[in-house]
Amino acid sequence: MKSFELGTKIFFGESSLDRVLDYDCEKILIVADPFVIKSGLIHHVTTRLDSKGTKYDLFDDVVPDPPVPKISVGVAALIESRADVIIAVGGGSAIDSAKAMREVVSKMDGYSGRHIKLVAIPTTSGTGSEVTSFSVISDPENHTKYPLISDSILPDEAILDVELVKTVPPAITADTGMDVLTHAIEAYVSVDNDEFSAALAEKSVEIVGSFLLRSYLDNNDIHARSKMMCASCLAGIAFNHSSLGLNHGMAHQLGAKFHIPHGRANAMLLPLVIQYNSDINKHSRSKKEYPKQVRKYVTLARLLGLQNFNTITTIRAFVSWVEFMMKEMDMPLCISSMNVCSREEYFAAIPEMAEGAIKDSCTASNPRTPTVEDIEKIYIDLW
Ligand SMILES: NC(=O)c1ccc[n+]([C@@H]2O[C@H](COP(=O)([O-])OP(=O)(O)OC[C@H]3O[C@@H](n4cnc5c(N)ncnc54)[C@H](O)[C@@H]3O)[C@@H](O)[C@H]2O)c1
Ligand SMILES: [Fe+2]
Repeated sequence: MKSFELGTKIFFGESSLDRVLDYDCEKILIVADPFVIKSGLIHHVTTRLDSKGTKYDLFDDVVPDPPVPKISVGVAALIESRADVIIAVGGGSAIDSAKAMREVVSKMDGYSGRHIKLVAIPTTSGTGSEVTSFSVISDPENHTKYPLISDSILPDEAILDVELVKTVPPAITADTGMDVLTHAIEAYVSVDNDEFSAALAEKSVEIVGSFLLRSYLDNNDIHARSKMMCASCLAGIAFNHSSLGLNHGMAHQLGAKFHIPHGRANAMLLPLVIQYNSDINKHSRSKKEYPKQVRKYVTLARLLGLQNFNTITTIRAFVSWVEFMMKEMDMPLCISSMNVCSREEYFAAIPEMAEGAIKDSCTASNPRTPTVEDIEKIYIDLW
């Protein structure tokens, strides 16, 4: 028996931030990305709270790829504020920090039976974290990233307001947009995919195909940016249901080891992982039968308008389209072009990264079961 549940209530469209006027609570803890505070974006939330006299504290000690020590600082801030609502305002890092903070505090003595409501307000269109039971935390000492996965992590509400994503610069629009695409594709070919997550993933891919480049090229293209907010959320619901795959399992290691932004790491791996999963590369000849994931990639390619001669040429067109998008958005296609590490450092890290990727919980739902050697080869090809 299977089930599909949408645990997070989603508010979206014009003036959706007005939802914060409805919270009848003792105190709110706002967990915000430092950029959101510095740029004044936070005023979209605080002026509304001030207008109602709602009490709130601010916590802005959030960093990308939130590390365990920062979560501990956040836990102390949450306990001290005694807030009964958390509003997380930021990208995946701020929302994931708030999720982990609430999870730890809810399990502490004195908190049993007290529900701390979590409202997630994304300021990037990427992770879909506002609707997922995942919180990705990093352990800087061991250069590892851990996806914490639990139904109790899921935000109670998500507010999607395009006002908050207008300031996202082109490079972050590209990284986060390619994260959306990777979520949708991985959810679609996952072994746990079904009709419900497939429908959401298909819509998400279709939106990315039409609106990611427009978002990248013009911050003021509000229509494109609001569509990408929806695509991010739809892909989040899809992968929350059917999980992800090898692409994320491998990207987490690149993020932990070399601090490559999450979406960029996913994008760089995507052409290689599609080729690995479908077992189709530039030298492949036609076969009588293909694995199930090949048909799924072909369906997604057709949704993007990449109708092509046959299965092999369609998969190749799909891979070329991903690379085309990355080139159009000035994204690096390989590690060697990024100046994040030397060749020696990178190759020395491969065995450990491959071990980490095979153990990563996302890899378990990949449609093709990789060996450590398979993963090492993909990392080598990525150089
Ligand atoms: N929980 C999940 O389901 C899930 C899924 C995928 C990824 N993640 C995690 O989320 C994190 C990545 O999140 P992200 O890609 O949203 O990036 P992020 O939250 O790390 O933010 C990236 C940068 O964008 C800036 N930024 C945020 N909003 C902005 C705005 N409106 N205008 C200008 N700049 C802005 C931030 O200050 C930061 O410098 C990673 O740790 C990743 O592992 C979580
Ligand atoms: Fe992701």
